[in-house]
Amino acid sequence: MKKTVTFIAFIFLWTMNGQQLQSSSKDISVDFSLSNKGEPTYKVTYKGKEVIKPSKLGVSLKNGIALNKNFTIVDSGTSTFDEMWTPVLGEEASIRNHYNQMTFHLKQKESNKKLDIVFKVYDEGVAFRYEFPFGTKVEYFIVSEENTEFNLTGDHKTFWIPSDYDSQEYNYNETKLSEIDISKLNLENGIALKTIDTNFRVQSPLMMKSAEGLYLNIFEAAVTNYPVMHLDVDTKNFNLTSHLVPNAIGDKAYLRTPSTTPWRTIMVSEDARDIVSSKMILNLNEPSKIEDTSWIKPMKYVGIWWEMHVGISTWDYAGSQNAQNSLTQELLPSGKHGATTENTKRYIDFAAKHGFDGVLVEGWNVGWEDWFGNWKEDVFDFTTPYPDFDIEEVANYAKSKGVKMIMHHETSGSVGNYERHLDRAMDLMKKYEYPAVKTGYVGKIIPRGEYHDGQTMVNHFNFVARRMADNQLMVNSHESTRPTGYHRTYPNYIAAEAARGNEFNAWSNGNLPFHETVLPFTRLLGGPMDYTPGIFEIKMSSYDPSKTEQVHTTLAKQLALYVTMYSPLQMAADLPENYEKYLDAFQFIKDVPADWQTSKYLEAEPGDYLTVVRKDKNSESWFLGAITDENPRNTEIKLDFLSPNKKYKAIIYQDGKDAHWEKNPKSYNIKKETVTNKTKLKLNLAAGGGTAISFMPID
Ligand code: NOJ
Ligand code: CA
Repeated sequence: MKKTVTFIAFIFLWTMNGQQLQSSSKDISVDFSLSNKGEPTYKVTYKGKEVIKPSKLGVSLKNGIALNKNFTIVDSGTSTFDEMWTPVLGEEASIRNHYNQMTFHLKQKESNKKLDIVFKVYDEGVAFRYEFPFGTKVEYFIVSEENTEFNLTGDHKTFWIPSDYDSQEYNYNETKLSEIDISKLNLENGIALKTIDTNFRVQSPLMMKSAEGLYLNIFEAAVTNYPVMHLDVDTKNFNLTSHLVPNAIGDKAYLRTPSTTPWRTIMVSEDARDIVSSKMILNLNEPSKIEDTSWIKPMKYVGIWWEMHVGISTWDYAGSQNAQNSLTQELLPSGKHGATTENTKRYIDFAAKHGFDGVLVEGWNVGWEDWFGNWKEDVFDFTTPYPDFDIEEVANYAKSKGVKMIMHHETSGSVGNYERHLDRAMDLMKKYEYPAVKTGYVGKIIPRGEYHDGQTMVNHFNFVARRMADNQLMVNSHESTRPTGYHRTYPNYIAAEAARGNEFNAWSNGNLPFHETVLPFTRLLGGPMDYTPGIFEIKMSSYDPSKTEQVHTTLAKQLALYVTMYSPLQMAADLPENYEKYLDAFQFIKDVPADWQTSKYLEAEPGDYLTVVRKDKNSESWFLGAITDENPRNTEIKLDFLSPNKKYKAIIYQDGKDAHWEKNPKSYNIKKETVTNKTKLKLNLAAGGGTAISFMPID
C-alpha cells in the first residue's frame, strides 16, 4: 500500500471570491466561498457546467447558535491522496482511493466557535463534511439540524422513496423532482412503517438524471454516531436540503469535540456506469479495524425462510395461540412449525449435496408467538430453542456434512433487550460454531420514540457489528439503516437488507419489475444487500390457488441477479423441492461465486437495464448478469473482457422466446457455446427478464 500526500498547486485555484478544487481528471470541480454575510457556500461543476448551483452549508446547534453565517476563513490547506487498498471481500480485489482535498478552518465572529469544512474531489464526484475541532476544552453540544443545501440546476428525473424514519422498504418512484409528493402514493401494501411527517421529503441515495443526460447521485458515507440524512425537496426551485432523522424528543445528534459529520456525496457523470461502479462511498470510510480477517468469508446459503414467507410453515411453534409470554408459558405445537430438527437436516443435506456454505434457520427460538404487533420489550432471549429444535444435534449434523449454520436474531425492534442479551447470544453461537448471524428489527423501536434511522440506532447497528467482530462473527442486518460503507471498517458486516427485498413479492403487491435496475444506483452504493434472489416457483398460486401474488420477474432474471446485485452473502432463497424441479437452471446458482477479482459494468441505465460481468476471485471464470425492467430488451455485447488466446465454454441461461414476467415467467432455455474474447453475443431479454452466463476456460 503506497500513499502519497503532497501539497499541490495546480488543482487548487483562488478564484474571484473563493477557492476551487478540481478532480485529478479535471472534469469535476468544487468552489468554496463565504458570502458577504460570511455564509459558507459551495458549488459543483462538471466539464465547466454547473451541476450544483451555489448552495449554503451549516449546522444549527440546540443552544441557539447557528453555525451558518458570520464566518471568516482562518486558514486553509490542500493535499492529494492516492493509494491502493485490498478489501477483504468485494467486487474488486483491489481498490484505488484517489482524491484531492481542501480544508477550510472557519471561525464565527460573535460566538468564537470554530468549524472546519473538508472537501474531497474524486473523479466520480465531490464529498464534504463538517468537522468540530478541538477547542481548549472538550465541548458537548446538540445538533438540532444540519443546513446543507444541494441546489439543482433543473427539474431532473428522480428515483425516490419517501422519507420514512423507520423503513426503506418501498418501491421506487420515477418522477420529475417537481412531481415528488408522498400524498400521491399508495402506501397501503406491505409493512412500511410510515413514520412520515411531510409529503415533500425523500431518502438518500437520490439518483437523478438531467434533461441533458447527466447522471447525479446525492448520498452520504461513513454514517457513525450521527443520524441518517434524508432530503427535503423544494419542488418549485429544485433545491434539496438535509433533514436529519430526530430522536424521541426531536434532537438530532449528541456530539462532543472533536467530532465530524458523515461525508455528504455528490456523484456526477455523463455515463451511468461511472456511478454504479464507483467505490467513492467505500473509500470515504476508515480502513479495516479488524487485523486478522481470515475468518471473514463469502457465503452462499439456503434456509428455512421462504417456506414461512409463502405460508407453508410458520416461525412460531404454537400457532396462533398468541401467548402472553412464550418465554415462560408452556407451548403446544401447532404442527406447522418450520424450524424443526428434522426439517433443518433436510436443508443441511440439500446444502451439502449442492455445495452451499450455510443454512439459515428462522423461528428456531422461543418468542415468535407474540413477536409482532405487541411491542413487548422481552419477546426473545436469543438463547432458548423451541422444544422441537435440538440445537446441539443440528450443529453436530451440520458439522458432519461440512455445512455452517447461520444464526437468526429477530429483535422485533426491542433493541435494549437485544443489547442486554447480546453477549449470551454470541456465546451460544460460538458454542455451536455458527459463524454468522442475520439480525432483524421489524416494527417500531423499543424503547419507544427512537427511530431506525436516528443516531441511537445508527450507533446500535455499528455497535453490533463491532461486538460481533470482537467474537469473530459475521453479521447481516435486516431492517437496519442503509449501509454507507462501514463494511470497509468492519468487513465482518458482510451484508444488510435495508431496502425492499425479494420477500415483498411473496405477500404484498411486490416489487416493480424495474426495482433491481434501480437498486445498484441507490441502496447498493452503500454496501451489499441480502436481497435473497433465486425464486423459481414465481407465482404464489402454486402454493395456494387463491393467491395472486408473484415475483415480478422471469426465472432467468432471478439467476442474473446473483451477478447484478453484488453481495458476498447470497441466498438461494427458494425451497429445495423447487430447485429439484429445475436442476439445469439451478446449476448457475451453484456455479456463481460471491467474491470477485474484478467487475465491469458493460451497460447501465437506472430504471431500465444493467449488464455486468465479473471475474471470479479464485479462478479464471467470468460471470455475466443482464437484467431489464418491464420492457423486453435486445442487445449485443462484446466479450473483449475475456483473456486473449483462450477458449471458454459459455453456458447461457436465457429467457424463452415466449417468456414474460407476468404471462410466462418460467420459460427459459440453456445454450452452450464456445467463445473467445473476439466473440459478440446477442442477448434477448424478455419483459421483466434477464440473462445469466458463466464463462469457464477450456484448458
Ligand atoms: C423481515 C426480514 O426481512 C425477513 O427476512 C425475516 O424473515 C422476517 N423479518 C422475520 O424475521
Ligand atoms: Ca425486511
